[in-house]
Amino acid sequence: MSARILVAYVSPKGSTAEIAEAIGKELKSAGYSIDIAEMKAVSSVEGYNAVVMGAPLYMGKVVGDMAKFIRKHLDDLEKIPVAAFTVGMSPVDKNPASMEKATEIFHRALDPLKPAAETIFAGKVDPEKLSFMQRWMIGKAQAPVGDFRDWDAIATWAKELPGKLGI
Ligand SMILES: Cc1cc2nc3c(=O)[nH]c(=O)nc-3n(C[C@H](O)[C@H](O)[C@H](O)COP(=O)(O)O)c2cc1C
Repeated sequence: MSARILVAYVSPKGSTAEIAEAIGKELKSAGYSIDIAEMKAVSSVEGYNAVVMGAPLYMGKVVGDMAKFIRKHLDDLEKIPVAAFTVGMSPVDKNPASMEKATEIFHRALDPLKPAAETIFAGKVDPEKLSFMQRWMIGKAQAPVGDFRDWDAIATWAKELPGKLGI
């Protein structure tokens, strides 16, 4: 039987969900049995051979659902290989200090898990999906607006996952 992998994500505005789908699709075409689900909807990770987690950065933090997911399933997650990605604008400006900061925030959210694979993907900011306050914050921070997701980089990361996860 092929290994079962759960791709669990949180995605307030939908761009992380689409990255999770792309990773799931890649793993499925490599022959794995894949479930893709919102973290909130996952009642158990029992029975999976590996878990891939994805959550975006908002206001200098990884969306809290990921830390909740880790706390809730920690005993099981510590028994299997895990991979994790976060999504944000730090990879867009290519500023090493902001990548370093994002990595630190990401590690804090993952604690105490040490993923076998981890990365930060560039995300998407669609002003039409934002609240008035969020639009104001993005404007004030002069943050980049647009879809910066690199589908080739996402597919490459997904293709390398089985080797890194040892499954
Ligand atoms: C209000 C707001 C705050 C954000 N804060 C950060 C941040 O602190 N760091 C970062 O790298 N990206 C930040 N981003 C970019 C998001 O991580 C990016 O838009 C991501 O693709 C959103 O994922 P989602 O569509 O799944 O919700 C922010 C975006 C918005 C709209």
